[in-house]
Amino acid sequence: MEWRRTETPIEQTAVDAIILFQTEEKEGVSEFVKKVDEAIEHRISVLISEGEITGKYCELTAIHNWGKIPAKRAIVLGLGAEEKISLDRLKNVVATAARYAKKKGLKQLALGCPTWLSERFTAVDVIQSLVEGMELGVYQHPSYKQKEESSKQIESIWLSLQDVSDSAVKTGIERGKVYAHATNYARMLTHEPANFLTPHKMVQHARQIAEKRGLSIEVLNKEKLQELGMGGLLAVSQGSSQEPYMIALTYKGAPESAETLGYVGKGLTFDNGGLQIKPANYMYGMNEDMGGAAAVLGAMDAIGALKPHTNVVAVIPTCENAINGEAFRPGDVITSYSGKTIEIHHTDAEGRVVLADGITYAKRLGATKLVDIATLTGAVIIALGHESAGLMSNDSAFGQAVKKAAHVAGERVWELPMYEEYEEHIKSDIADVKNDDGSKAGTIQGGLFLREFADGTPWVHLDIAGSGEAMREKGIHVKGATGAGTRTLIQLAMV
Ligand code: BES
Ligand code: ZN
Ligand code: ZN
Repeated sequence: MEWRRTETPIEQTAVDAIILFQTEEKEGVSEFVKKVDEAIEHRISVLISEGEITGKYCELTAIHNWGKIPAKRAIVLGLGAEEKISLDRLKNVVATAARYAKKKGLKQLALGCPTWLSERFTAVDVIQSLVEGMELGVYQHPSYKQKEESSKQIESIWLSLQDVSDSAVKTGIERGKVYAHATNYARMLTHEPANFLTPHKMVQHARQIAEKRGLSIEVLNKEKLQELGMGGLLAVSQGSSQEPYMIALTYKGAPESAETLGYVGKGLTFDNGGLQIKPANYMYGMNEDMGGAAAVLGAMDAIGALKPHTNVVAVIPTCENAINGEAFRPGDVITSYSGKTIEIHHTDAEGRVVLADGITYAKRLGATKLVDIATLTGAVIIALGHESAGLMSNDSAFGQAVKKAAHVAGERVWELPMYEEYEEHIKSDIADVKNDDGSKAGTIQGGLFLREFADGTPWVHLDIAGSGEAMREKGIHVKGATGAGTRTLIQLAMV
């Protein structure tokens, strides 16, 4: 999709469709829609008075203009209640239009910006949101059908903007595209079947990003993991014929600074539960157990493109949790890379075991603040459904910074407590920690376990088992992998 700027008023643009906005409370057309309405003989006003256009959030009404203005159609989008308007809602609204236009085969679109939006938000933020929302909206998961239905593409979108500087437009377009493409990349990776996206393939993806963005990359294979004593990643992967890898990508945007953000993403390309195997209906979809890794890779791609003044090291432990004669067992005690011993109480609580080594590795590579992101627990879906990620932290200031980044990026996170009473859930009789104890507070138990490995370094844990998947197509989301966390991780690095 090509984005261009024009100063031509939207009612004069010759495109397949112009996109307009209407809020809920308005009795007649908004100021922004007025000129178009007049030019098309007040058809929009009529539809409003007849109750067909209500301005309800994400409502879409397409009107054919029959030669009254150069554009063939006007698409009127409902922005919902005026006081509820946010950049996040704006993204969902335009995503709906982008999906519609794509399905209809519309190739040229024009989009304006109501003046009152630019009074409430900066021009860069509004433009970023318009671009990001539409780029997220046109995304479709790849398919492996022999005969693919010909996929229609929007070719270009004109932003009809009058009083905005070229540099603001340029920055907004660039950010919108980069945030959305990184998220779409994470969605695509997460969606891949496990027989396509193996740990080895994950390494190839990381190499491609490193090369494209000039990042340094280090990949530890099984031999190297053994040499370094990464017992967590080795134990989880030992029941699979797929070789495990620890991947590290480094972006140095502030070489003079001693501060480095460490991103650690769970990269289980499939999780069948291990010897304590998952029931059949819980196993389907476990190819998406690398959603954390996908978000980290997508974010590194974006960070490499936007080049913020900061340092980031991204670590991805990647392997498969499977079963053969070598599989790790409940009751096994393993020595993690940190030296801490772990009693395996449940082989399906494997994510935290590989992340333990990932967190330690990120610290040894110089991370001074850590964010781990993982499809860690089914329990977070019970707590928060698919609407929000669970967040836990050992540092309130850093926790706050991640919450703010998520809010700005338009992603939801919700903090769960780490009261000391919960600590008994990770106590083991024979090892330093236990990976599970059957506690009902499953998400908190997972977070507490990971906190042991952050070991005092400011750390935030994001559990995206729920938010990583959308149950149906809605706003910016398609059904399935959402790319959750990608935009939060980009935003956090944007200093
Ligand atoms: N990968 C799963 C968590 C998950 C569940 C992700 C549903 C996406 C959707 C994780 O490895 C797991 O199996 N967790 C167990 C932990 C338990 C055995 C302590 C869980 O949540 O049931
Ligand atoms: Zn599991
Ligand atoms: Zn898992």
